[in-house]
Amino acid sequence: MNPTAASTQTFRAIDVIRKKRDAGELSRDEITSLVNAYTRGDIPDYQVSAWLMAVVLRGMTRAETAALTDAMLRSGEVLDLSSLSAKKVDKHSTGGVGDKTSLVLAPLAAAAGVAVPMISGRGLGHTGGTLDKLEAVPGFNVNLPVAQFRRVLESCGCAMIGQTAEIAPADRKLYALRDVTGTVESPYLICASIMSKKLAEGIDALVLDVKTGSGAFMKSEEDAAFLAELMVETGERMGKQVVALITDMDQPLGCMIGNALEVVEVVDILRGEGPEDLRRLCLELAGWMLHLGGVSATVAKGKKRSEKLISSGKALDKFRQMVELQGGDPRVIDDPKKLPQAQHTMTVSSPMGGYLTSLQCEQIGTACVVLGGGRERKEDSVDPAVGIVLHKKVGDTVSAGEPLATIHYNGATRAARARQLLEESYQIADSPARERRPLIHRMIGRA
Ligand code: URA
Repeated sequence: MNPTAASTQTFRAIDVIRKKRDAGELSRDEITSLVNAYTRGDIPDYQVSAWLMAVVLRGMTRAETAALTDAMLRSGEVLDLSSLSAKKVDKHSTGGVGDKTSLVLAPLAAAAGVAVPMISGRGLGHTGGTLDKLEAVPGFNVNLPVAQFRRVLESCGCAMIGQTAEIAPADRKLYALRDVTGTVESPYLICASIMSKKLAEGIDALVLDVKTGSGAFMKSEEDAAFLAELMVETGERMGKQVVALITDMDQPLGCMIGNALEVVEVVDILRGEGPEDLRRLCLELAGWMLHLGGVSATVAKGKKRSEKLISSGKALDKFRQMVELQGGDPRVIDDPKKLPQAQHTMTVSSPMGGYLTSLQCEQIGTACVVLGGGRERKEDSVDPAVGIVLHKKVGDTVSAGEPLATIHYNGATRAARARQLLEESYQIADSPARERRPLIHRMIGRA
């Protein structure tokens, strides 16, 4: 019998729970045994819940975090994409409001010759999800089996799907348990959850967009930087190139929030139009993807090349190709009216003139969820047509009665609730805010 088998045989969940409860450091074997036993269904939810809470309260060392990530990663299939000659690079955001950068970046980086195998998530809490946005395109299939995912990736250089049963199944089980046991908010558990899924994609490099501000899960820059450092170090331990940008989520990104509306804004950006903040962040993240993907010598050159791929129409063509290959209707790109449209719109106007000094970003995300653009309960379906278009952002001047936002809605009761949340989100003052928050706070990792 080999030593791993012997230690698995003597493994008792209660010993591991007690050790973490008493602030001990778990060995790689103990963590692997716990994850494997739980994935197989050999230990009950109540024991793993107790262990998760001990982790939330006691934390983990870097070695424990890496061991947990590794065990979760190996609980399922790890894609082998070595047959593709291009470097495989993905981007992951920790989640925000109006954050549609993934839909821009996958085709943009693919147009530059980087392979982008992207496995994304659905909306979580007040934040939107890439899969829900993609599904706003009629026919778009985010549930491709791995073999088909690989075929799309091979023929167009990018493919975007949801987590399958084969990839990191331990995370699926653990995430569902964390969601109902108050154990989501641990940087160690968030790191292992995100990195296990991303590393299972068979990537060479990863660009992380860690959000901070009132619409992010990590409200303070300090907490965002801690999580970013943990994820960068964990990825590097596993031999991957990882950089993280800490970026602002104190107001929504871009002007459109809601699934179909966000696809419209994605197409605008890929046409060289669209709001300045979204365009700037997309170019920065693309610059990093191209640099780590080995097709641009520097990030600055990667940004320049990305601008050219947008102005030449090549990035938009790549998006069209991916939409078509995944079963979506590519006509939405030239005719956005073919995307789902809400039946009604309603304007929210400014009660006074002045300067817009802040937007309560989480509340704006919640307003979109209330309209039906996200889920209030797990089993809810999402209305792709509803959402909010912002006409003013922080720093803008506004006059009394001028439109601040337009609500796209399908139900009057939902619209009234969303309107109230929106009205409460705006802070308008006689003078501008003293400090403007930067869009990109800082970079963590080795350039
Ligand atoms: N997203 C994930 O995939 N996992 C977490 O734990 C938090 C956000």
